[in-house]
Amino acid sequence: MFLVAALFLAWIGVAGAEERENTNPHTTPEDVAAGGRIYRSHCIECHGRDGTGGRGPDITRGDLRYGNSDAALADTISTGIPGTSMPLFFFNGKQLWQIVAFVQSLRREEPPPPGDPIAGAAIFRGKGGCLNCHMVDGQGGRQGPDLTTVGARRSLRHLRSAILEPNQWVSPQDWRIRARTTGGVPVEGFRLNEDTHSLQLLDADDKLISLVKSDLETYRIIKTSAMPAYAEQLSQSEVDDLVAYLYTLRGKGASP
Ligand code: HEC
Ligand code: HEC
Repeated sequence: MFLVAALFLAWIGVAGAEERENTNPHTTPEDVAAGGRIYRSHCIECHGRDGTGGRGPDITRGDLRYGNSDAALADTISTGIPGTSMPLFFFNGKQLWQIVAFVQSLRREEPPPPGDPIAGAAIFRGKGGCLNCHMVDGQGGRQGPDLTTVGARRSLRHLRSAILEPNQWVSPQDWRIRARTTGGVPVEGFRLNEDTHSLQLLDADDKLISLVKSDLETYRIIKTSAMPAYAEQLSQSEVDDLVAYLYTLRGKGASP
């Protein structure tokens, strides 16, 4: 059954790409180097210097959601992923294969994480208090990003450091603003938009707050994380368990 599905998908891939071949004809070290140059100019901003991700997911894994075969990678790159920030690229055939060769060269089989995902799920819901801020499968808080597919998007190293050193990973969309109006009322929220005269925030209850800057006595942008650093609160083995749990979150509803 799996084989049939795989063949069918491969067939769609070929049909979609007209006459594109299924295996990469451009895999010499020179091709990989040429692909690397294209990668650095077109992909690095989202997938990171070594492919382990940033704004976009880790693409060094052996179990990519959209497939690891040469044909699947060529498809992902040439059609993009609709509804996400993954754009479609118009490379010529040779360039496309060179970049596929480069992406394949980044492949890194991660050893399975050392922790126990079931124990990690219990810490996530219990002692860690993670569910207060994060949703998984539609359950949980909204202060932090939804983690339903975080295991498919992030490397083990990223997951571990997100827990231990959250300040390293704050992107501008997670910056917060702490302000006080001239009437002395404190306001705090995530920064949605800002221009010279006004400011839009999203507060902890997802309410939109619009402020005129001249009405504010003080305001400052907080670029540090809203997420507490857990290095002191959790033991090494609890962190391992949490990482193992997060790594199972691939959005298939199959988490323990
Ligand atoms: C503006 C950001 C952005 C750029 C630039 C970008 N990507 Fe992506 N890419 C993404 C996002 C976001 C996803 C995940 C989409 C999703 O969640 O389904 C993705 C997904 C992918 C995937 C599939 C990963 C998987 O799990 O199956 C591959 C492969 C990929 N990108 C390769 C590339 C290559 C190669 C380039 C450069 C030619 C590139 N991307 C440029 C944002 C980007
Ligand atoms: C007070 C709210 C809060 C709590 C509690 C919290 N987080 Fe977070 N978390 C955030 C926010 C906000 C971010 C977004 C980036 C940032 O600001 O650090 C984040 C980011 C993350 C990320 C990175 C996601 C990504 O896509 O890179 C992971 C992983 C994560 N948290 C896991 C956890 C785990 C595991 C726990 C419990 C041990 C936890 N968080 C508890 C607020 C929280």
